[in-house]
Amino acid sequence: MPGLGEWVVLVDSKGRRYLLRLEESGRFDHTFGGVSHQQILAAGYGGNVVTSKNASLRVLRPSLEDYVLLMKRGAAVTYPKDAAAIVMMLDLAPGERVLEAGSGSGGLALFLARAVGPAGKVVSYEKRPAFKARAEENVRARGVTNVIFKEGDLAKASLEPQSFDALALDLMEPWEVLENALPALKTGRKLVCYLPNITQVVHLLREIGERRLPARKLRVIEVAHREWDVRPPIAHPHFRQVGHTAFLAEFVKLPSGLRGKAVDDQQG
Ligand SMILES: C[S@@+](CC[C@H](N)C(=O)[O-])C[C@H]1O[C@@H](n2cnc3c(N)ncnc32)[C@H](O)[C@@H]1O
Repeated sequence: MPGLGEWVVLVDSKGRRYLLRLEESGRFDHTFGGVSHQQILAAGYGGNVVTSKNASLRVLRPSLEDYVLLMKRGAAVTYPKDAAAIVMMLDLAPGERVLEAGSGSGGLALFLARAVGPAGKVVSYEKRPAFKARAEENVRARGVTNVIFKEGDLAKASLEPQSFDALALDLMEPWEVLENALPALKTGRKLVCYLPNITQVVHLLREIGERRLPARKLRVIEVAHREWDVRPPIAHPHFRQVGHTAFLAEFVKLPSGLRGKAVDDQQG
């Protein structure tokens, strides 16, 4: 059951979601009426509250997906369906260390932090101070303590060689940071870049080859979710869907002797 200081999500009859943190004398007000936080507390997770204008709202425990989509944003977040796939592609396990940039709003950092657990660490670089502050606040407000935020350009960061188990990049020009960041990644482990445009993916492959960086492409994927509206006898795909978000480009870090091509000859 939720307590004071905890986050809840309210869901209205149209499926719209509202994130709030419960306070002693707090109130949630909307065009469909208001409810006190005490009413929400009394309803509990999974329960219902009825607003002053007789609208019914479902009270839910916010999942990480809810939190990331509804928290305050500076920069656009890595979409949760993609963040979950990034965790899979990086093959993260409890206790591991991840290097990330840019922090943005802290969305991807929260997924990485959960995957490596309290014994692990996420080191997240952000070059814009206001975004770093936003990311830090979002992560702390969720009670997550295993993310270390660093203000600055990852291209200029001082990093210990072979000290990270994974490298996650959600920034416009990943090729500008790789020369500095790749040596910090353990040989044989993964780099994933989140890139909205396929032209960025092509550019990245070219830059890795031209700069003779020790990374080889394993795959480039898109994650498609197709949500259905199921309310028997109605059952069909939702008319509005999340469309394209980004491409996920996965690379393996090569031993330092093997450089010069981003793509293996035998790959399609
Ligand atoms: C799209 S946002 C990242 C969003 C983040 N993944 C999230 O889920 O909230 C990209 C961020 O990268 C930062 N950035 C771009 N280049 C950078 C660099 N070289 N070093 C550090 N941060 C960088 C930008 O300032 C921006 O905040």
